[in-house]
Amino acid sequence: LVTDVRLRRILDSRGNPTVEADVLTESGGFGRAAAPSGASTGEFEAIELPPSESIAATRERALPRLIGEVHAGNQREVDNALRAADGTENFSEIGANSAVAISMAAAKAGADVLGAPLYQHLGGAFRGGDFPTPLGNVVGGGEHAAKATHIQEFLSAPVGAPSIDEAVFANAAVHARVAEILDDRDIAAAKGDEGAWAPAVDDSEAFEIVDEAVSDVEDDLGFEIRAGLDVAAAELYDEDDDVYRYGDKERSTDEQIDYIADLVDEYDLVYVEDPLDENDYDGFAELTDRVGDRTLICGDDLFVTNVERLQTGIDEGAANSILIKPNQIGTLSDAFDAIELATQHGYDSVISHRSGETEDTTIAHLAVATAAPFIKTGAVGGERTAKLNELIRIADDAV
Ligand code: PGA
Ligand code: ZN
Repeated sequence: LVTDVRLRRILDSRGNPTVEADVLTESGGFGRAAAPSGASTGEFEAIELPPSESIAATRERALPRLIGEVHAGNQREVDNALRAADGTENFSEIGANSAVAISMAAAKAGADVLGAPLYQHLGGAFRGGDFPTPLGNVVGGGEHAAKATHIQEFLSAPVGAPSIDEAVFANAAVHARVAEILDDRDIAAAKGDEGAWAPAVDDSEAFEIVDEAVSDVEDDLGFEIRAGLDVAAAELYDEDDDVYRYGDKERSTDEQIDYIADLVDEYDLVYVEDPLDENDYDGFAELTDRVGDRTLICGDDLFVTNVERLQTGIDEGAANSILIKPNQIGTLSDAFDAIELATQHGYDSVISHRSGETEDTTIAHLAVATAAPFIKTGAVGGERTAKLNELIRIADDAV
């Protein structure tokens, strides 16, 4: 039985406040987790409230339904109590930030009571053998860095890596190789919110640089590494004029679909996230029809980890994979339901960080627990390596 829930404001990686939750149980179980936060958030995500507001509302409305009422090991019971306390579809009363922090902290407390690692508690006794391929953000811009690329993320995908450890180090090597190539070209670069290099180059030069870095590291390590993208196209889309804006250049929806399809072939992309606006199921379906046999078309802002939006996508043939961000929907149970529906329909799940992160490692465990084929959690930087190093520890049976 949950005996206490403590909430506080802590720093996230951007220096903004976020919510951390501690869950304590009668039998001495303890779990702690923190909410991440997006910058290029989807229009249909659950609501993140200012942390102080969210904490006050959660103390008043949710804690009486949790303390002395639910079992930390019963995730559905915890998450149903959070939903009932909020009473809205999108957690606009207590905030998805407090909800997800409590949901994840309860899972950790439940695992603690059992003396089991979190991934086993979440996934069952047979989990732990399958490891996700990490997608590493190596170059980026968009909403994550000023005066850099229009496409938000250029990703390294070590699809041929024989182990999680080698995959994680491969992405770090691509990140380092990009720095050398930028230096050779006399291009200065800051880092964006997720630790990717954020050079002031146009997108076509970024493609060249990433392509070269990926090939070099692939030759060096001797296993297949491919490139991927998060276009985050909702941020480029101008609704009034119905065009995608890349600085001075604009593309109609048809041109955007052609552009992305050409990029998939030219750079042999293995992964393309949010290539079109978050309302454009038709555009997603057309692109999936064209290139979905040779690349993953992933919905992030399109699906927002929401089973209803995913079901619409399945019905319309939009995308063939889904990004899973627990804070987009508010609870681990909801995230599990989205993964389950995706798996039933042959959609690959990609468990993901946010641009604003903490040292929390829950998503590493969630990826292993659900045997997700991919995890997107950066390449370098403490709040990113927290998850990557946790994956290495899980593989080493050392958590
Ligand atoms: P966000 O970016 O966390 O700023 O939303 C990540 C993404 O778009 O995948
Ligand atoms: Zn995205």
